[in-house]
Amino acid sequence: MAELYKNYINGKWVEGRSKKTFENRNPANRRDLIGLFPASGPEDVGEAVGAAKKAFAKWRLVPAPKRGEILYRAGELLRQRKEEIARVMTREMGKILKETRGDVQEGIDTAYYAAGEGRRLFGETTPSELPDKFAMSVRVPIGVCGLITPWNFPMAIPTWKLFPALLCGDTVVLKPAEDTPHTAVKLFEILEEAGVPPGVANLVHGTGEEAGAALVRHRDVQLISFTGSTAVGREIAAVCGQNLKRVSLEMGGKNAQIVMEDADLKLALEGALWGAFGTTGQRCTATSRLILHREIKKELTDMLVERAEKIKIGDGLDETTEMGPLINEAARQKVHRYVQIGKEEGARLLTGGAIYEEGRWIHGYFYQPTIFDQVTPAMRIAREEIFGPALSVIEVGSFEEAIEVLNDTRYGLSSSIYTRDVGRAFCALRDIEAGITYINGPTIGAEVHLPFGGVKETGNGHREAGTTVYDIFSEWKSVYIDYSGKLQKAQIDNVE
Ligand code: UN1
Repeated sequence: MAELYKNYINGKWVEGRSKKTFENRNPANRRDLIGLFPASGPEDVGEAVGAAKKAFAKWRLVPAPKRGEILYRAGELLRQRKEEIARVMTREMGKILKETRGDVQEGIDTAYYAAGEGRRLFGETTPSELPDKFAMSVRVPIGVCGLITPWNFPMAIPTWKLFPALLCGDTVVLKPAEDTPHTAVKLFEILEEAGVPPGVANLVHGTGEEAGAALVRHRDVQLISFTGSTAVGREIAAVCGQNLKRVSLEMGGKNAQIVMEDADLKLALEGALWGAFGTTGQRCTATSRLILHREIKKELTDMLVERAEKIKIGDGLDETTEMGPLINEAARQKVHRYVQIGKEEGARLLTGGAIYEEGRWIHGYFYQPTIFDQVTPAMRIAREEIFGPALSVIEVGSFEEAIEVLNDTRYGLSSSIYTRDVGRAFCALRDIEAGITYINGPTIGAEVHLPFGGVKETGNGHREAGTTVYDIFSEWKSVYIDYSGKLQKAQIDNVE
């Protein structure tokens, strides 16, 4: 009998109202059933939002340093249970253990950062224009926040949202991706043990269409924070716009790595392999375009193909595996469709481009590391997000052309350039249109204490992580204290 997991509402583990469930299976071996999870609907969401609304009345009054201490304990518990959670995550998500350990570590880092922020949450003080009057700004919490998170970072991304929200005094309802609900259960076990009071953090499983949509539409939810596809983000933004709900979106990418002719090619090679095939290419920050200067293109692509063909594919729970499966069959079919599109568009397939049809890997969603050469910026494989282990090589003749090609996209999350020329490096920092730029490093690997997010259709102007995430989850209140004992009129009494 498969284990039946539950929602976590108002401090209790509860079954879904409808009793409908969905299956969670291991993408490396779909015969491995992890468990059944509630397919929640609007009633479950309503209950969770109700609990969060009620809890907000008290939670907002808990001093921020105290809220921070609870998050610190959550960080400690994550640290203690890191290995167990990494294994749970690899089993349900597929990426290799090294990466799932890193994913838990990102949660730990975020917890400690938030704990420290509990004693900061700085506002500003500034002189008033009038005598005997004091002026300052303070942060206030927003209320109930709906968090909708993807499956590719099942711990890091929920904690990026949840910990800062709780630290600010908000209460939350999390709807995790239906491909990775088990990691969310682990996170909530930890929140409970760390001492997060009932109702402050609630977990509702289910699909985006049902549970997610109900959360976005609920009138007592003040803010939606979403990470996922640009298509879904656009729909969410429209509903939030209609209802004047705060909304923070982290969406697609078509990230590029430039390698100039003066670069350290060995370093650039390692960066490209890690950026393109790490997490099986399923990061928002993954490298999906490799922009190579003509002079080094052949040498670098030859090395790349040789190495890509040696990547050890398999079950991420095996420590020697270097690349796991895709998350599900739809994701694999999408990659495969783009491979056909690439061929039809006239790109040259250098390696990969196939599903494993036999042998050890037939029970998982494995796909070969794929590299296309002779890609032009106009091709769909150079423009659309594939979200899998597929890399497009584009040749350029100059630094200016490289930057132009890199910027020729509707997305703008991460970017990278390999060069030894400090002048080019600084021009790239200035001219690349992206939220993140790496010099001599791959497009992946953002740290939690710097802003994370993108320009253009990648986002809507917000930045998670760093200090900037606290701007998402709090609002400003300006406070004036007049101790003059008389009515003073700003702008009017303030004459020469
Ligand atoms: C994502 O792909 O959605 O920068 C997040 C990175 C990770 C986070 C990626 N720290 O690659």
